[in-house]
Amino acid sequence: MPPTSSADVVTRELRGKVLLVTIDHAPVNALSADVRRGLLAAIEAADADHAAEAVLIVGAGRNFIAGADIREFGKPPVPPSLPDVCNRIEACTKPVIAAIHGAALGGGLEVALAAHYRLAVEGAKLGLPEVQLGLLPGAGGTQRTPRLIGAQAALDLILSGRHIGAKEALALGLIDRMGESGDALAEGLAYVHELLAVHAPVRRTRDATALSDRAASLAAAAKAREETAKKSRGLFSPLKIVEAVEAAIEQPFDEGLKLERKLFLQCIDSPQRAGLIHAFFAEREVLKAPETRDAKPRALDSIGVVGGGTMGAGIAVAVLDAGLPVTMIERDDASLARGRAHVEKVYDGLIAKGRLTAEKKAAILARWSGSTSYDALAHADLVIEAVFEDLGVKKAVFAELDRVCKPGAVLATNTSYLDIDAIAASISRAADVIGLHFFSPANIMKLLEVVVPRQVSADVVATAFELAKKLRKTPVRAGVCDGFIGNRLLAVYRAAADAMMEDGASPYQIDAAVRAFGFPMGPFRVIDLAGGDIGWATRKRRAATRNPNARYVQIADRLCERGWFGQKTGRGFYLYPEGSRSGVPDPEVEAIIDAERQRAGVTPRNFTDEEIMRRYMAALVNEGANVVHEGIALRPLDVDVTLLYGYGFPRYRGGPMKYADMVGLPAILADIREFAKEDPLFWQASPLLVDLVARGADFASLNQAG
Ligand code: 3HC
Ligand code: NAI
Repeated sequence: MPPTSSADVVTRELRGKVLLVTIDHAPVNALSADVRRGLLAAIEAADADHAAEAVLIVGAGRNFIAGADIREFGKPPVPPSLPDVCNRIEACTKPVIAAIHGAALGGGLEVALAAHYRLAVEGAKLGLPEVQLGLLPGAGGTQRTPRLIGAQAALDLILSGRHIGAKEALALGLIDRMGESGDALAEGLAYVHELLAVHAPVRRTRDATALSDRAASLAAAAKAREETAKKSRGLFSPLKIVEAVEAAIEQPFDEGLKLERKLFLQCIDSPQRAGLIHAFFAEREVLKAPETRDAKPRALDSIGVVGGGTMGAGIAVAVLDAGLPVTMIERDDASLARGRAHVEKVYDGLIAKGRLTAEKKAAILARWSGSTSYDALAHADLVIEAVFEDLGVKKAVFAELDRVCKPGAVLATNTSYLDIDAIAASISRAADVIGLHFFSPANIMKLLEVVVPRQVSADVVATAFELAKKLRKTPVRAGVCDGFIGNRLLAVYRAAADAMMEDGASPYQIDAAVRAFGFPMGPFRVIDLAGGDIGWATRKRRAATRNPNARYVQIADRLCERGWFGQKTGRGFYLYPEGSRSGVPDPEVEAIIDAERQRAGVTPRNFTDEEIMRRYMAALVNEGANVVHEGIALRPLDVDVTLLYGYGFPRYRGGPMKYADMVGLPAILADIREFAKEDPLFWQASPLLVDLVARGADFASLNQAG
């Protein structure tokens, strides 16, 4: 990238009486040091230039300003700071107007709030999303926003981080005017001239009075504090946000700014900021699989789904929600009717919640068609198979697809574990076959593993990424192996949990420790939710091929033999009295575990929660290193995104590989070697982990390699 200077990225031009200041810093006009310097210089120039009577700030390209430059966080600060720039804008002696199109987010909105008047056009996105990065608005946003729109509205905006449109911003008083056309420059210039014509004064947000009802403002803050403490479990920045807004209510502006700065720097220093910002960039990096650079996606105008069970129906809903038509194939009329009913149930749920009308549902379902004949797929651009998890059944389905589908149709399987190379090799068009591994519920879960078999052509992979975009899913490229990325790791960390359970930790302690770490629930609750029978069937299928020397904990099998499959049967690892969904510990399960320990000759010992998490994470990280080492995952960040989007890994920890980097790889490796003393077969250090530690490197060093 050629070096830039502040003059390149912030241009100034006197248009009559108006100093037009344009931020032109692709891709999103982030507030890098050069942009900050340029803005400061522009305001200095405006104050010094007699010919300039007002300043208009606009953004070039698709956005006003996307915010602070996220890549700078964690590096030594370069002056001028953004709060100083905002204060200088606000102090300008001539009216400063911001004309917003596209994103005015974070520091971008803070620049606009420091201006004296604000206009936004249709399509503008305004917001203070810092909380999603583990931060708080750090350039006056926590002080100016409540003064402008009141404590409650400001807290809602800052704590949710949501983006709002120009209309809502106008209604809230965040902007003064909505431009009629989409042209921010033209609208902005017209607005400035209007303001100049009426000699509109400089009007500083720091003096705005929306907090004048102090009691109501404090009550709003108290309510937000209470709700935040409940909702934002484990998160650092939300309560700091409330604290900063309380300061806006109770303290003079400059004091509030000082506190905001202090709290902002605390957030910057927190590991949560590092985790969340890693997640922000990782979820963008996963989109850049090699095939998406080199190949063009095929058409995606009509989609087929084979199977209308849990996954087929969920996938059909995801496709319908993206506005595409879907054709569902089932094996007989009754199954097809069930498939259709599964789809309808999702929309009926929305109607019951008042989020959809019956007319809208009918319009959506008009794009659904069903058949028991594969011939109905003759014109489909892409077909996703979601029938039983059985290689023979899947191959038979693919033989039918091979027979009926048009040339060039993409043929995808939603298999969880099976060998997609074998499926591809069984038909005449292996280059068109790919894995599209959705997660349940498929219309909700964001992750889509794009599983790339050996013979697939690049444009089929590119088409899978395009489909993910249309379905608003986060795609991660994975290679073919048993379980791909996600389920392969899941099997290993569950095995670690099983071993700890047999060695003396109760499933309830393990679940509590995992939840305290930040997962929404622990592994045993997850099994109860998904149904213990699913894993049981897999274990039975694999019994013959399992390494006889590998430790095999039988506790889950004992529960399944009793028909205790979890929530749906009223008991599993937990008891669910009278259909309750929360579940309570079950003494009978504890007795079964005791008996199993005895049978296995284990003398139970105590585990601390900390040790539980060290083992759980070491297992996860080690297998993550293996999938990167084998090329199943392109980079460590692909493992991170898989766990974040498909398995409830706490986003504020960035993913298991980022977590490992933060803990330090030598510590993880030392743990694995320690645990290997008890079970050397399970705890084999990944060659990649060993190599990185030997070189003093970390997983991050591999993230550029995709
Ligand atoms: N800093 C640095 N890079 C940024 C950035 C930022 N604030 N925002 C986006 N980018 C980069 C992306 O990483 C991506 O880079 P790549 O092409 O190398 O992958 C590129 O810009 C384009 O981004 P998107 O792919 O996300 O583009 P979209 O058009 O889909 O979305 C957007 C644009 C809505 C602006 C979206 O990028 C976004 O939400 N950005 C982050 C906004 C944000 O969180 N701002 C607050 C920052 S914190 C802050 O301001 C602190 C302050 O209070 C002091
Ligand atoms: P399911 O049992 O709920 O549904 C399977 C459906 O396929 C049934 O409706 C059945 O009638 C239909 N079917 C079977 N043979 C057929 C054929 N020859 N032609 C047409 N339809 C046929 O199963 P589920 O859970 O939906 O799983 C489907 C696939 O998705 C499996 O490969 C599974 O491993 C995978 N998967 C499952 C996940 C889950 O959480 N349930 C998650 C991700 C993938």
